[in-house]
Amino acid sequence: MTSSILIQGGTVVTADGEARADVLVDGEVITRVGKDLKTPAARIIDASGAYVIPGGIDPHTHMELPFMGTVASEDFFSGTSAAAAGGTTMIIDFVIPNPKERILDAYKKWRTWSEKSATDYSLHVAITWWDQTVYDDMGTLVRDHGVNSFKHFMAYKHAIMADDEILVASFMRARELGALCTVHAENGELVYRLQQQIFDLGISGPEGHPLSRPPAVEGEAAHRAIRIAEVLGVPLYLVHTSCIDSLEAVARARLAGQRVFAEVLSQHLVIDDSVYRDPDWNKAAHHVMSPPFRSKEHQIALWRGLQAGMLQTTATDHCCFCTEQKQAGQNDFRKIPNGTNGVEDRMGVLWHHGVRTGRLTPSEFVAATSTNAAKIFNIFPKKGAIAPGSDADLVIWDPAKSRTISAKTHHQKIDSNIYEGMTVIGNAAVTLSRGKVLWQNGKLTTEPGYGRYVNRPCNAPYWAAQTLRNAQHNPVAVQRNQKPN
Ligand code: URP
Ligand code: ZN
Ligand code: ZN
Repeated sequence: MTSSILIQGGTVVTADGEARADVLVDGEVITRVGKDLKTPAARIIDASGAYVIPGGIDPHTHMELPFMGTVASEDFFSGTSAAAAGGTTMIIDFVIPNPKERILDAYKKWRTWSEKSATDYSLHVAITWWDQTVYDDMGTLVRDHGVNSFKHFMAYKHAIMADDEILVASFMRARELGALCTVHAENGELVYRLQQQIFDLGISGPEGHPLSRPPAVEGEAAHRAIRIAEVLGVPLYLVHTSCIDSLEAVARARLAGQRVFAEVLSQHLVIDDSVYRDPDWNKAAHHVMSPPFRSKEHQIALWRGLQAGMLQTTATDHCCFCTEQKQAGQNDFRKIPNGTNGVEDRMGVLWHHGVRTGRLTPSEFVAATSTNAAKIFNIFPKKGAIAPGSDADLVIWDPAKSRTISAKTHHQKIDSNIYEGMTVIGNAAVTLSRGKVLWQNGKLTTEPGYGRYVNRPCNAPYWAAQTLRNAQHNPVAVQRNQKPN
């Protein structure tokens, strides 16, 4: 049923600034933004004392992912519902084909799984192996299915790791198509060897996990991916930048004019590596994710990277495993399924630790939680904006609303929460997705299947700029004006 909603009396915040304004929603889209709108509307939402912001976009989640011998406990419906409770109205999840599985078949499988989503969603596709079918299917995904980003796991040897041969082949294909390459930057060979060495030393608990994945392992892979992208003349996006080493590689490249984007996870900004020394095995295991939590100096650097615009997006890498699933690695940290929760918590954690501390302005918060992701993944201004014609994905953000995060009260389908006991001030009071209220008065009103798949066409302007820069010194890059076939 289409109906009009007038959001009255709030302060509208976009990535460009903030102003007192009302927002009129007609059906699924915003139709007017202005002062004291007198238009009659079927429904009024009072936003006085609150901000009105674009719904959050989490560009990195893994709902119901088959991984490390189990399946992530959060499904597309429960996960997007939890997201809505926290003010996030769109996720971009990952299709991760098994090696030798047609990537188009894997994509179709994920499309079926994701149909039950409560909010809008889209899918990156991982390149985990290479042959002619992968080359062909990348073209089909771009042309017919609105996929504009391909992911490369530089870690997880003997599973989904992309070695340099795959990286180069896939980056070259992405160049032809005008698609964006993304990487999980960790040197998989080093991780594999270090894991073995640490286990052989008798360290089998969760504390072995960060020891096997030191910052240099991430920094090396980040640097390598960036240089490969530079040589081939492709834009690059680094997921979950967690440490100074990879942040510096990103900063160097950006200062040299290379088109490199980077994401930071809210959990890497506020949780440090002491969690692996928790005497409670289960608690420590719940923090086993890759890259791991780092020491405090890395957190300080990540905040500065976000403030300086070297890191553009914030995500969660939401990939939930319950205690029983984590216990598969009781005797061997290498078998603990990697992943943590966060999709419901990201916005509140970032507001509390970012805006309330003065590190970020409300506008910078909006840029980092939705607008920048919408621009990089080419869905702006449909998403990430408050303007006539944009989808009515809106959050009434109450800066005074307090929440103490706990697995007992959260909506995520996991029996633990990495932020357990953290009080955050600033939370979603009302969440709308395409004009439908999904969260209000502490209650979810989500429905399976309401969410729609969002097509993401390739982003020509980024490519033109990159071509110009690289053509000055790199003969390979001048080929990149080729049209997708
Ligand atoms: O530990 C993590 N991050 N699990 C999910 C898979 C990935 O690496 O993104
Ligand atoms: Zn990853
Ligand atoms: Zn991930």
